[in-house]
Amino acid sequence: MGHGQEHPPAGPAQDPHSRRLVVVSNRLPFTFARDAGGAWQALPGGGGLVTALLPVLRNRGGTWIGWPGATGDKEELESALRGAGTSAGYSFGAVDLLPDEVHDFYLGFSNEIIWPLFHDLQSLCNFDPAYWRTYCRVNRKFAEVIAAQSRTGDFVWIHDYHLMNVAAALRELGVGGRLGFFLHIPFPSPDLFLKLPWRAELLRALMCFDLVGFQTARDRRNFVQCLRLFEKDVEIEGRGHVLAARLGEREVRIGHFPISIDYAAFRRQAEAPEVADKARELHERLPGRRIILGIDRLDYTKGITLRLRAFRNLLDRHPELHGKVSFMQVVVPSREDIPQYHKLRTEIDQLVGQINGSLARPGGWVPVWYEYRNLTRLELLAYYRAADIALVTPLKDGMNLVAKEYCACSVEEDCVLILSEFAGAASQLGRGALLVNPYDEEGVADAIRAAYLMDPAERRARMRRLRASIREHDVFWWVDSFLQAAITRDLRDYPQPGGPWDDALDYQLPF
Ligand code: F6P
Repeated sequence: MGHGQEHPPAGPAQDPHSRRLVVVSNRLPFTFARDAGGAWQALPGGGGLVTALLPVLRNRGGTWIGWPGATGDKEELESALRGAGTSAGYSFGAVDLLPDEVHDFYLGFSNEIIWPLFHDLQSLCNFDPAYWRTYCRVNRKFAEVIAAQSRTGDFVWIHDYHLMNVAAALRELGVGGRLGFFLHIPFPSPDLFLKLPWRAELLRALMCFDLVGFQTARDRRNFVQCLRLFEKDVEIEGRGHVLAARLGEREVRIGHFPISIDYAAFRRQAEAPEVADKARELHERLPGRRIILGIDRLDYTKGITLRLRAFRNLLDRHPELHGKVSFMQVVVPSREDIPQYHKLRTEIDQLVGQINGSLARPGGWVPVWYEYRNLTRLELLAYYRAADIALVTPLKDGMNLVAKEYCACSVEEDCVLILSEFAGAASQLGRGALLVNPYDEEGVADAIRAAYLMDPAERRARMRRLRASIREHDVFWWVDSFLQAAITRDLRDYPQPGGPWDDALDYQLPF
């Protein structure tokens, strides 16, 4: 486990290497494509979670279970999965979903109820009771595959909001082994959570895990407050980052573990000469301009339209900046089958059109450079490296890894991160970044101007601090922290305050 870092010991009880790891997520960590001969091929994904879990899966052995996200001949897909497992060094298990299950479970319950509600956007929720029924049925399907593919002694680590009911379904199936859950998105305050028609069932289902992990102290606090509302007899014990909640015979650990990135890989790749060349090329195409960068998945939680308005506000109030700044906004296509996402895309198109339509000059300055597409790895690294200012202003975000990737790639350390107070990352990066309220158009515009005018020594000092925090608490640290919290027999042996935790959460927001 781990990755070239020294970590606190696991406590006297068990060695984390002794158990196989079963990872479960909605999507399997690869995409399917047909090769030249028309046969299915599973192409491994390169996301941070895969990179972080790979050493653990390889060392201890294990399986990754999820929805392949492709429809095709079952035999063919399974053979592609076996092939992928052989080259990855661990196996894969597929959960087949029927089209109506994808609709009601993934698009419906997960992304039209939980996603907006947990991001404080209750007005966008569609509380269709059919969605809940299918969510329970599909979670049960996942549980059946896990039960069939795991062995006694395995540690099962389930990820994210699509699968909150899986432990309850596994317990119904008689699976008694240790189960961990990590919520990658925020957990809402009781005021919002209470709106959910299935709130009590969902809380009870989460209490079937042995460890429930959140991104930030705030998410964990919200969860504990909700729990106290519904379970009057719950006893919460402990201090620090992992608490114990006792409910009758059950003890559930509740912790917060800020997810991160493979810092060393991003830094190393960003230092490559071809990235430097491409970054230079970008500046040559925008001579004399500071580049402000936004990179987001198409999603209404990312605050893209408000950010564009803030940029327009800056240009309206500060004409001296015309021709001196270019805003590059990259939007990566996502969840295009959900109507809200279509609507958002149109709004972005219109706003960009309005800003450029009123301010661009032929053959000269174009204020917003907008791209709606997937970037190659090289492009992503070069955009990060070239940007003088990153605008990461989600309305709400579990963590936001773009903020961390940007810092890791800023190898010259001569740039500024502007970060939303409502991104989970703010609790870790708040001292080095300029924090903004994404709803405050003038405040964001002022922060861009402050970043533009910032003294180079201050830019460097801030960026150095940011990079040090991310380097120290990278995604391998995150995996270790979670697994240690899960397997340490006695919580008193868990590295509570005094461990790396205090530094990771080096800035406490005032709310
Ligand atoms: O941030 C939550 C998340 O589910 C990520 O795990 C995932 O990469 C992203 O949103 C896009 O998710 P999907 O395309 O599976 O809906």
